[in-house]
Amino acid sequence: MAEPFYITTPIYYVNDVPHIGHAYTSLACDAFARFQRLDGKDVRLLTGTDEHGQKVEKAAHDRGEDPQAYTDRVSGRFRHLADAMGFAHDDFIRTTEPRHKDAVQALWRRLVERGEIYLGKYAGWYAVRDEAFYAEDEIQDGRAIASGAPVAWVEEPSYFFRLSAWGGRLLAFYETNPSFVGPESRFNEVRRFVEGGLNDLSVSRTTFGWGVHVPDDPDHVVYVWLDALTNYISALGYPDEGGLYARFWPADVHVVGKDILRFHAVYWPAFLMAAGLEPPKRVFAHGWWTNEGRKISKSLGNVIDPFALVAEFGLDPTRYFLLREVPFGNDGDYSRDAMVRRTNSDLANDYGNLAQRSLSMIAKNLGGAVPEPGPFTEGDDALLARAADLPDEVRRHMAVQAPHLALEAIWAVIADANRYVDAQAPWKLRKTDPARMATVLYVLAETVRNLAILTQPFMPGGSAKLLDQLAVPDDARGFDRLGAAGRLKPGTPLPAPRGVFPRFVEAPAGEGA
Ligand code: MSP
Repeated sequence: MAEPFYITTPIYYVNDVPHIGHAYTSLACDAFARFQRLDGKDVRLLTGTDEHGQKVEKAAHDRGEDPQAYTDRVSGRFRHLADAMGFAHDDFIRTTEPRHKDAVQALWRRLVERGEIYLGKYAGWYAVRDEAFYAEDEIQDGRAIASGAPVAWVEEPSYFFRLSAWGGRLLAFYETNPSFVGPESRFNEVRRFVEGGLNDLSVSRTTFGWGVHVPDDPDHVVYVWLDALTNYISALGYPDEGGLYARFWPADVHVVGKDILRFHAVYWPAFLMAAGLEPPKRVFAHGWWTNEGRKISKSLGNVIDPFALVAEFGLDPTRYFLLREVPFGNDGDYSRDAMVRRTNSDLANDYGNLAQRSLSMIAKNLGGAVPEPGPFTEGDDALLARAADLPDEVRRHMAVQAPHLALEAIWAVIADANRYVDAQAPWKLRKTDPARMATVLYVLAETVRNLAILTQPFMPGGSAKLLDQLAVPDDARGFDRLGAAGRLKPGTPLPAPRGVFPRFVEAPAGEGA
């Protein structure tokens, strides 16, 4: 049976309109999931919406809506985003679903039974925007230093989780799981935070009601982060520890933004260990996008709308740009110039032209069928070997959430292939040595086949079109067909070639919009 692979996106606060940040996390997860699927794993990709808490309740009240009606209405925006970006998730969880609420209450009961939760009183700072508690030394001038969110003083009865008792065991866990957090620099931040000493964590609230009720004490609702994190197991059917849970837990990787790493790398493994459950295998934190050098914010009015990006540039270029432009894990800047450059130079010129040149020469000169190659030269073998070695390199990068390096490696072979075309000049061979021309075009078609199989996780649309044009059947597009295992069969008729990565041309001023 195929090896399981479980990957998750964060669940998104429904009160926000989907923006580039949401699209980015999910897109990366989608590419990782598609990659593992093509590599033969039994993949489960989970996404969803985070619908409880003070922030969402306030958003509903501000609009005069009942929170349930409000969340039912706006949660759909994130499904639309998933559709627009071509995300192939296996499950979409909403924290207002009964299956999730039951799981949260079950986890709570288990923590109580194990003596990990006690009743006390919270007095301290809280930022509704972050849904987070902050210590005195984490705030300045009424705001959380880390996020800039305004904080308010809160005093209320509260249940506490004995987080203070878990510091040593968390550090030991990090020690024995050196790849638990990526990138490494972020892991160091996590370690330092835990080494600084942990306070018990307030895990219930009483001053509002929009949440999962604490079992046997309905005046309290479960703290929204304990509620939200549980989605990763509630979607696997927890508290039933058979079925999906047995197959897919612990998760292979939770992909999150750097702002929510602490919840995933400190609180979540502590909750799980305290409940006697296994922590996830890895948490990867990506950076934040800015827009033309400026922080993205609603008040600045410079939010990047992923729907608009896809509408203007197309889905493949948008996906390619986001995954290629910025090393995954670093902060990055969106610029329209860079988006245009990536679309035109990387996709249209480098990749698109390589395929288009090769396929149209085959159509024009070789009757539109896969050429019959003669003996391969050293140069032919070298290019075929480059393409055949590529999967291992790409696999290595994808295993550590480095899609930018995976794409860089793929583009290095694209560059080699373009150099090969220029050096072999098959258009000249047409008259002088047609048999050699057929060999060269075979090598090129075979290289494009390998490339198109490997680019499927990143640009599913264009890659599929290329594979269609090479008459590669649907069931021969997995990574097991890379290299010699799936070589094109000479004589196979090919459909008429069409360009798949068009150049982006700026609409003339005054038109469009
Ligand atoms: N609901 C919580 C997550 C709970 S997971 C159990 C949450 N939601 S969120 O909607 O506010 O953020 C979701 C993700 O979007 C986070 O990973 C966050 O880092 C990411 N981004 C929000 N703005 C971003 C950018 N400007 N750039 C990149 N990602 C950003 O937090």
